[in-house]
Amino acid sequence: MEGSSPHLFGRSTVGRFQHDVAQAAAAVADRVRTVRRPYSGASLTDLQGMVDAVDLDRPLGDTDAALDEVAKLYLDNAVWFHEPGYVAHLNCPVALPALSAEVLLAAVNSSVDTYDQSTTGTLIERRLVDWAAGRIGFGPDADGVFTSGGTQSNLHALLLAREASPATDLSRMRILATTETHFSVTQAAILLGLGREAVIAVATDAGGRMDPAALTRTLDDLAAYGLVAIAVVATAGTTDLGCVDPIAEIAESCARRGVWLHVDAAYGCGLLVSTRRRHLLDGIERADSVTVDFHKSFFQPISSSAIIVRHASAMRRMAHHADYLNPRTATVPNQVDKSLQTTRRFDALKLWMTLRTVGAEQLGAMFDRVVDLAEDAHRLLTEDPDFEVAAEPTLSTVLFRYRPAWLDDDACDELTPRLRARLFAGGEAIIAGTTRDGRHWLKFTLLNPMTTTEHLRAVLDLVRETGWALLAEDDTRLATAVV
Ligand SMILES: Cc1ncc(COP(=O)(O)O)c(C=O)c1O
Repeated sequence: MEGSSPHLFGRSTVGRFQHDVAQAAAAVADRVRTVRRPYSGASLTDLQGMVDAVDLDRPLGDTDAALDEVAKLYLDNAVWFHEPGYVAHLNCPVALPALSAEVLLAAVNSSVDTYDQSTTGTLIERRLVDWAAGRIGFGPDADGVFTSGGTQSNLHALLLAREASPATDLSRMRILATTETHFSVTQAAILLGLGREAVIAVATDAGGRMDPAALTRTLDDLAAYGLVAIAVVATAGTTDLGCVDPIAEIAESCARRGVWLHVDAAYGCGLLVSTRRRHLLDGIERADSVTVDFHKSFFQPISSSAIIVRHASAMRRMAHHADYLNPRTATVPNQVDKSLQTTRRFDALKLWMTLRTVGAEQLGAMFDRVVDLAEDAHRLLTEDPDFEVAAEPTLSTVLFRYRPAWLDDDACDELTPRLRARLFAGGEAIIAGTTRDGRHWLKFTLLNPMTTTEHLRAVLDLVRETGWALLAEDDTRLATAVV
């Protein structure tokens, strides 16, 4: 006799499964159809109260009822990345085929640690790693694995760099990066036992790109002090300025000294499929390892990232073979041999479905579109005397601030974080914030190809109105003036 449970996915519940997935899809579709702003504007206090009021020890017993509850808690107050007013972080609207893939991979629940838990899942992931390696320009010896995100990919890359180094004294190891490098590199240095001081900031040019001459000098200085550079991290798409380090020149320096080159292309990996801007990644094929975040510029649902290495042997060095799971004698491919995770989602299916439906060329065109949009935003801002811009964009971020000509630097600095918080509280536009040289800036991160220049114009008008309103609250004389 066959066992069954009304609560678990199986033969006896497929009807229920179809119903539940359709209801969930209907709930999210309903919100997306009606929502007109990236956020409801609900306060943290209100949301905390709503979440705390749920009694987790008294189940509703019915998915429809739980879905209704969650729709109010979560969907009604979610931050919507497809809304043009969302211009804050490196989040994208997601490719539709990837959502179908999410249903499949969640229901089947494959784990791509071993072949015997995933079969074609493993093979599909490996094909995608090969595909990404090909786009990078690596040869047939390349390898890689999917990860949970850029943070994990960077940690993994630096672990491989440490293991590849002939040095053994952790206290002498250094990682060269810049002040623009993502903080996950410092986190990785701490996790790898090197400490945060092991990350040395190489000087940048005025645009925030690593200065290759400064890199050469720093490498020479380290050698003179008996320190060992175990890796240079070049970034293809820095988080704030979106700039791309001069990879080819950095690669040349690294090759001459035998130093591991890691390229963090978490953000800039979209350039791999761009027909117009691929040249920005020239030299990436000489890297030892590359981070690619498909959940940023390939429009994939979180999580979808990979570390790709030029030589498979680098990954094999850290393999551990457990007799119960992936014995040394295995004759099938087991991805756990090279992953930092054991049980692991079959995230690769989302990218597979997207490539098979949309194709690389369209993905590249979508990434190019957001880079074009950043150029438009930059033009709007430079033409407008009420705004100040930090730098010309390379990818799709733009740093700016609302600063009418009469507002001094300190007052603008005091205003900018308040302005950002006021916008978030209103829910109509969500903009990121950062600091440069001790000053606060607003940041557009544009990863939505459906956003238009007109949308950005409207967001800037809102920034202007909100900024003016805050200034007027501080100085009532302004309240009667015309904006
Ligand atoms: C350049 C860069 N590297 C790495 C990361 C970390 O990626 P994740 O958030 O997927 O861990 C980010 C995140 O924004 C990033 O901008």
